[in-house]
Amino acid sequence: MNTRIVVITGASSGIGAAIARELGRRGDSLVLASRTTDALQRVASEISSPTHVVTADVTLRGDVERIRDEALRVFPHVDVWINNAGKGIIRPVLELSDADVDEMMAINVKSALYGMQAIAPHFIERGRGHIINMSSFLGRVPVASPRSAYSAAKAALNTLTANARVDLQRTHPGIHVSLVMPGLVATDFAAHALGSTGPVPPGPIGSPMKPQTAEEVAIIVADLLDRPVSEVYTNPASSTVATRYFEDVARFESENRTRN
Ligand SMILES: NC(=O)c1ccc[n+]([C@@H]2O[C@H](COP(=O)([O-])OP(=O)(O)OC[C@H]3O[C@@H](n4cnc5c(N)ncnc54)[C@H](OP(=O)(O)O)[C@@H]3O)[C@@H](O)[C@H]2O)c1
Repeated sequence: MNTRIVVITGASSGIGAAIARELGRRGDSLVLASRTTDALQRVASEISSPTHVVTADVTLRGDVERIRDEALRVFPHVDVWINNAGKGIIRPVLELSDADVDEMMAINVKSALYGMQAIAPHFIERGRGHIINMSSFLGRVPVASPRSAYSAAKAALNTLTANARVDLQRTHPGIHVSLVMPGLVATDFAAHALGSTGPVPPGPIGSPMKPQTAEEVAIIVADLLDRPVSEVYTNPASSTVATRYFEDVARFESENRTRN
């Protein structure tokens, strides 16, 4: 059994809740955060290892610092911090408002920045720790144009994650920073997206990548805690698609146009 103490943001539903259940099964102690207390408590009630719930809006720096303070009040230390909370959008680039872009950056980039900045001093003091940022394959390969500002925000998150990893590894080799890039995952993510009018069927990003379940992604993330690596595509088809994209962007886009 594990005895790690793990903070998970966006743990009230979808991938975050599945990670919480998987780590709980493996014996980790958990701090679960999101804006919805009753949903968090429902997830916590399914977990037998010690679990603490914090209601917080991760777009607010003070709330993210409070998650850290609560975690360190309830538990002796934190081993792993997972910046999982995120939100999509369905709006093409030419229709994006300032508010759309601000919201996508706040929930997908600043939330994780606040998380990294909140927990890094604790990890530095201990000389170890693991930050995991939940990005998206769309942050690496922008194949779903209606997701526009979401993909752009995740691309920014990819960059901040890589820069933080290089900086921390140089001085503190015991601190790991990992980026997780799922493809399409069967959660309520599409329904929760800004501009969504309800559940959305898998679009072009579905081909040739089959949707995964939140539980499949959770197992990959849980294994990442045991064996930290820099980056993970959770969908086995992703790396081939990414390689094809970076080999020749024009050819890739032309093939995608023909296919769709
Ligand atoms: N599903 C996919 O296809 C897919 C693919 C690639 C990457 N991802 C990424 O995976 C992560 C989880 O997504 P999901 O699929 O599990 O979607 P989801 O079911 O919509 O879950 C999103 C989670 O984020 C929390 N959240 C949203 N805004 C928040 C805020 N301001 N403060 C605190 N928590 C907030 C939500 O909780 P509350 O509403 O209770 O606050 C919820 O727990 C996201 O980062 C997403 O970008 C998803």
